[in-house]
Amino acid sequence: MQSPKAFTLAAHGAKMPVIGFGTMELPQRPAELVAYAIKCGYRLIDTARKYGTEERVGEGIRASGIARDELWVTTKVTELDAREADFLRSAETSLKALGLDYVDLLLVHWPQPKVPFAETLGALAKAKRSGLTRHIGVSNFTLAMLEEAVHVCPEPLVTNQIEYHAYLPQDRMIAALRRHGMILTAYCPVARGKLLDDPIVGEIAKAHGKTHAQICLRWLIQQPMVAAVPRALEEAHIVENLDVFDFSLNDEEMRRISTLRSRNIRIADPPERAPKWDVETIA
Ligand SMILES: NC(=O)c1ccc[n+]([C@@H]2O[C@H](COP(=O)([O-])OP(=O)(O)OC[C@H]3O[C@@H](n4cnc5c(N)ncnc54)[C@H](OP(=O)(O)O)[C@@H]3O)[C@@H](O)[C@H]2O)c1
Repeated sequence: MQSPKAFTLAAHGAKMPVIGFGTMELPQRPAELVAYAIKCGYRLIDTARKYGTEERVGEGIRASGIARDELWVTTKVTELDAREADFLRSAETSLKALGLDYVDLLLVHWPQPKVPFAETLGALAKAKRSGLTRHIGVSNFTLAMLEEAVHVCPEPLVTNQIEYHAYLPQDRMIAALRRHGMILTAYCPVARGKLLDDPIVGEIAKAHGKTHAQICLRWLIQQPMVAAVPRALEEAHIVENLDVFDFSLNDEEMRRISTLRSRNIRIADPPERAPKWDVETIA
């Protein structure tokens, strides 16, 4: 089997690992867990200013001893810093917190409708041009917002990081992202545990000698231009979530898992900042 490190997606000059380690919550042993994930083979660490985990992520990276250029670090600027000066200050604060000279990917964490997109996306492009980040993207953008962002941003966007798992359809977004040569980065890839006792997933897991989580992740990354950033605090889960490259799902298995979309469960929907989500057809 090829090393998991070899599995990347290409978009606008970026080569982004297809599985990353999510760090939204790292209550215990945070730096050790990040270092452990890197030692296990994770090459993408997903953090954000909002999570308050950047310092710990930086410590974990240093503790792992990995060379900087072997790692992909993603961070995000909150919707409260959508004005240009705030945005660039936030990006610089992130670098200080992480102890890094640059990140690999900087995202607009949530859309801010009170600030013109041209200003926020312009600041994002400036962050790239001034070397704070190698690549840029957005998160939690709807279809219309994505089109506007692509249109006004002077630099190419490589991803829209959104909630995506077998219980939530995203067909129209996937199609739009592919049209723009962009990656869909799936957060909540195991629906925060809700998919882990699904009977259809369980049946397929049994057939492959894999776990529910591994089937959910494999279903995601087997779709073109889809990456996933699962979070796990249990060491066994951390290992397991990267062990998804030695098998594949057949067309019938992919189709059966896709039927679970009828549950239409959205988990991350904070009323104070979530946009009005697109409605997907649930066949
Ligand atoms: N851009 C955004 O707005 C946004 C929003 C939400 C999340 N995210 C990113 O996406 C990451 C992941 O999303 P998430 O944390 O919300 O949801 P998630 O990864 O779907 O679910 C995490 C939960 O699933 C459990 N789990 C993971 N792998 C498992 C396995 N192999 N076996 C059993 N249980 C397993 C974890 O348990 P244990 O902890 O016990 O291992 C944890 O309770 C975040 O950390 C963050 O980096 C981004």
